[in-house]
This record gives sequence, structure tokens and C-alpha cells, in this order.
Amino acid sequence: MRASTLPDEPGTAPDPRPERRPLDPDLFAVSPARDPRFRVVDRWLECENLSANDPLHHVEFTHRQMNEEMNGLECSARCLADFPEADWELRMGFARQCWDEARHVRMFRRRLEGLGGHVGQFPVLNFQYRIIARAETLVGRLTIQNRTFEAGGLDAVSWVVREARNAGDPELADFFESQLADEILHVRFANAWLRRTIREHPRELMEMGKAMTRAAKAFKEVMGKEGTDGIFYPTDGASRVEAGFTEEEVALDAELATRNAPRDGDGPAFR
Ligand SMILES: [Fe+2]
Ligand SMILES: [Fe+2]
Repeated sequence: MRASTLPDEPGTAPDPRPERRPLDPDLFAVSPARDPRFRVVDRWLECENLSANDPLHHVEFTHRQMNEEMNGLECSARCLADFPEADWELRMGFARQCWDEARHVRMFRRRLEGLGGHVGQFPVLNFQYRIIARAETLVGRLTIQNRTFEAGGLDAVSWVVREARNAGDPELADFFESQLADEILHVRFANAWLRRTIREHPRELMEMGKAMTRAAKAFKEVMGKEGTDGIFYPTDGASRVEAGFTEEEVALDAELATRNAPRDGDGPAFR
């Protein structure tokens, strides 16, 4: 199932191809289990990164997204299991998130099958789970999962909603808009808890910084230049404010996002 991390044969030179090198275990937790229908890979380069013109592009995107939602569910479930002493309110936030992400997995599966695809059709990455679950503290996990990955997802999903509406596909726009409503709540409960924690224990800011540094390093290892170059989603200020970011944080994010924008101004297409 996981061909990419097989060790090299004894006595042979390590494979120099980046996609064949094992991921740094210091930065990644063990991959979550998948049944035999799935082929799990470690790096973006090993996925089928079909071009926007490929007839299977949307099928592959939907398959990938279905597995990413599963990662969201698995991360929240791990937080519930790993931090049983956490505030009740926070644990309720994780439990609700598990429920939402499970619904998202099923939504994406229905859409995948509606497009003629099937579970296991394409290789999948579990990088979100592997990066997030590697963080040892709640501050670290919430910083990476909710405040970074899912906050980035708000921009991406909002962009897809707008594109679908402009393309005259209200059904698809509604599909993603319902997901967006849930994702805003996932970012919001984490932002609220993190702000309270930092107010009470300012040293936790160091933990946030440390978690972000490790996550950025790990993300780079998985995605490589190929998986991130030219990827740009305009910051969705309205969703981010609703999700508990301040106006200053939104402005800073918009500035950073613009720096990564492709020169021709084209946004990505379901990437
Ligand atoms: Fe989700
Ligand atoms: Fe989420």
C-alpha cells in the first residue's frame, strides 16, 4: 500500500530521486491507516497531478479532497484521544469538528461517484495528519490544523464558490458554500481558544512559533517546489474575520498571499 517509503535494498545506493527518499520521521507522525483500496504516497510528486484541461481533473481533485477531509476528522479525533484533560468547551469543538468532517468526507464521496469516479482511483497523501499529529501540544496542533491549514482552506473554498457561481453552476457553488460555513467554525473555535490561552500564558506564543516552523519545514518536504509554485488563493477577508482573525492579521495574510501570486494574475483551478 505504501510503496514510497520502502527502504533501499541492503548494499544498494540510496535512490537519489526526491520522491523516493523517506520523509524525516522527526517531522511526521506515522500515516493513518487506509484500507487496501487506497494507495498512499508521501509526496506531491507521487500523486496524479492532472492538468486543469484533463477530463479527469475534477474527479482527481474531488478524490484528493475527500481524503483531506478524512485527515481533518482523524486529526480532531486524535486531539480528543490525546488530550482528555482539555477544557470541555474545546473538546466539544473537536467533537463537532469530527462530525462536520465526517459529513464532508461523505459529501465528497457522493460527488466523486456522481462524477463517475471511485474510492481508491488515485494515490492519496496524508500529509496534514502526519504533520499535525506530530505536534505534541494542543497549542501546536490547533495552530497548524485550524489556524493555518484550515484557514488557508477558507481562502481556497471561497475562491471555488465564486468560480462556480461565475461559471453558472449554482449547485456546485452551494456544495462548497455549505463546506465553507463549517470550516469557518473550525477556525473560529481554535482562534478563540488560542487567544485566551496566550492571554493567560503569553509564553505559549513561543510554542505557536515553534510549531509553525516545524510545519513549514515538513510541508516543504512533502510538496516540494513543484507542488507550491504559482499556487495562490486571494485572502478571503470576510471569512477570516468571521473565523476570528483580526483585521491586522487579515491584511498581513493578504500581503503574504499576493507575494506568491503568479504574474499573469490567473488563479489556480481546483488544485
Ligand atoms: Fe472539512
Ligand atoms: Fe475543517
